[in-house]
Amino acid sequence: MATLDLFSAGATPAGPDRQRVQELHRLLHHHAHRYYVLDEPEIPDAEYDRLFRELQDLEAAHPELLTPDSPTQRVGGKPLDHFASVRHAVPMLSIRTETDTEASGAEAFDARVRRELGLTEADLPVEYVAEPKFDGLAINLRYEQGVLVQAATRGDGEVGEDVTQNIRTIGQIPLRIGAPTLGTDVSLLLPEGARFALGRPGGETCPPVPAVLEVRGEVYLRRDDFNALNERQREKGEKTFVNPRNAAAGAVRQLDPAIAAQRPLSFFAYGLGEVSATTEFKTHFAWLQALKSWGFPVCEHVVIAQGAPDLIAFHRRMGALRDSLPYDIDGVVYKVNRLDRQLQLGFVTREPRWAVAHKYPAQEMLTTVQAIEIQVGRTGKLTPVAKLAPVFVGGVTVTNATLHNEDEARRKDVRVGDTVIVRRAGDVIPEVVAVLPEKRQAGAEMFTMPHTCPVCGSAAVREEGEADYRCTGGLFCSAQRKQAILHFSHRRAVEIEGLGDKLVDQLVDSGMVNTLPDLYRLGLTALASLERMADKSAQNIIDALEKSKQTTLPRFLFGLGIRHVGEATAKALARHFGKLDAIMDASEEQLLQVADVGPVVAQSIRTFFEQPHNREVVEQLRKPVPDGCGVTWEEGEPVVIEALPLAGKTFVLTGTLPTLSREDAKAMLEAAGAKVAGSVSKKTDYVVAGEEAGSKLEKAMALGVAVLDEAGLFRLMKGDS
Ligand code: IVH
Repeated sequence: MATLDLFSAGATPAGPDRQRVQELHRLLHHHAHRYYVLDEPEIPDAEYDRLFRELQDLEAAHPELLTPDSPTQRVGGKPLDHFASVRHAVPMLSIRTETDTEASGAEAFDARVRRELGLTEADLPVEYVAEPKFDGLAINLRYEQGVLVQAATRGDGEVGEDVTQNIRTIGQIPLRIGAPTLGTDVSLLLPEGARFALGRPGGETCPPVPAVLEVRGEVYLRRDDFNALNERQREKGEKTFVNPRNAAAGAVRQLDPAIAAQRPLSFFAYGLGEVSATTEFKTHFAWLQALKSWGFPVCEHVVIAQGAPDLIAFHRRMGALRDSLPYDIDGVVYKVNRLDRQLQLGFVTREPRWAVAHKYPAQEMLTTVQAIEIQVGRTGKLTPVAKLAPVFVGGVTVTNATLHNEDEARRKDVRVGDTVIVRRAGDVIPEVVAVLPEKRQAGAEMFTMPHTCPVCGSAAVREEGEADYRCTGGLFCSAQRKQAILHFSHRRAVEIEGLGDKLVDQLVDSGMVNTLPDLYRLGLTALASLERMADKSAQNIIDALEKSKQTTLPRFLFGLGIRHVGEATAKALARHFGKLDAIMDASEEQLLQVADVGPVVAQSIRTFFEQPHNREVVEQLRKPVPDGCGVTWEEGEPVVIEALPLAGKTFVLTGTLPTLSREDAKAMLEAAGAKVAGSVSKKTDYVVAGEEAGSKLEKAMALGVAVLDEAGLFRLMKGDS
């Protein structure tokens, strides 16, 4: 063995390395095809990057193994034949991507830039633009005389696909820019009291648009749009998409524009291709501002940064914001701001020397399934959950991932022992998005849902037309009891601070608490006798319980955990009926009178209050001490919502208002009969925008939704118009 190794490690490349290079070619070609051409990757990006780097390293060590057809020698994939090919007037390059730690990465980049620009320590810091790295699909938009004439994918960087028809369906992408267009003066169509908070694109303040202008940017799917899309796919029993990037790429490269139009795509502009006239813009940032003034969405988080310290701060800030952004980002991009400096720095092979991307921890990773367990929810819903070998994904270590339900687990065919892709993005629960079938061990058994509850042993049934199995044990089932207690004590319900899942486990398992009223009968001594419970913490729980007794009808109602009665429905019920007894005794017909209450919800409320033990719980909770628990709220008079001034109107709040807090504004609007939604759509009637309003305002403007400031809102409330 030893002689053989010595022999093969001579001047010619080692046999195993040559073999590995060939293997990597095969793997990378295969996976690039799945990713770029079919929009159906089989492995996470991080895994692809790892293989790619391995090949790059081997090629660097053995240059004779580097061939022109190596996957390292091209960007992206071959275009699909279905679309016409487009040769890019200016190649669409990629950026050097690094995964270093924040400080060393930004400092190394800044040092390189300074060196290549010939700057010394005496010179000022280099000015950069720092941008999020959006995780979508790069697109080139070509405008001639201000009209969108062509949209193309990146393809291999030189030749892309003509996807103009599909791109035209994206509302955020202007079809015409520059000259004021028909319909610019939308204010004429707005209800009085409404106005646009910002100038409309296309006004006199915009710089003139070059005769030929190519705008580059990223087409992406917002996370909420992605989740809704997958939810629809699940309901239809169809395949779900692995991630928003994939669903977006699939939509853009969809042959039927009608299907593309059903996926609510979004866009951010971040660069340029061919531009006919030389303009007076001297910086990248000035270009971004011009793009914005012409009506292109430019990300609100893009900033100017001075030197490495600002870049590091940006990296940190975006990293902290990442989970709460409405879209996926996979890193940040730093670009030298001055265009003359960009020119001076130029390119190495296919990458500009004036830009670099720094990646955050991947949101998708490979791991193995150690077991599949069943969790029992508050309403008895059984959820299969994959127990995973711990994996660092999306910035946290994940050991559990939901498989949603029986059909979904079957469709993905997840089995114990499988190697799977796990995704965790934003505050969404981690999920298993796909299995790597070639890594399955022989004899792995298909997953089946149990027909009994794993906690209480009651029968679990799946009703016709439902996706979920439910435990029929009701409050006999300790898992359901625990969830019911946690739900009641939730911040948005009656709020019992400090009553978390560990404590509830102890209380229920020890038999101290079986029903909600038992909570209020807990004494200090009993609580303090629990394991790991100090006297001080026990007193805090007693105080929190006392405090929770002063509540409101909507909170109490929501806290009861009636199936299908969420916060909004609880509020609507409270407002409509005014008093709890009226709700408890309402007939199905009476319940159907409430805005938003349909037959399923009405039935569920009836069923809940028809159960004597549920009524008993309510009675004990509201009866005054010492006989009862003394939970109280102020009851009101019934209100006919339809008669309220803003009935049927939907509002969205964004930014900071000068005097009203978000909660106050919401409460005020709801009291006037309006609905307050979280995101802007065509169904939104008004957006109320304050300072630092962001993408919601942009979306409102793109959709032509009326925008109000706080003063406008007050006028509308007073009925002044
Ligand atoms: S600039 C020459 N800026 O990342 C520089 N790219 O490899 C061209 N991306 O394919 C790209 N966010 O799809 C740039 N703010 C951003 C970006 C961004 C995402 C993507 C883009 C490109 C890849 C870079």
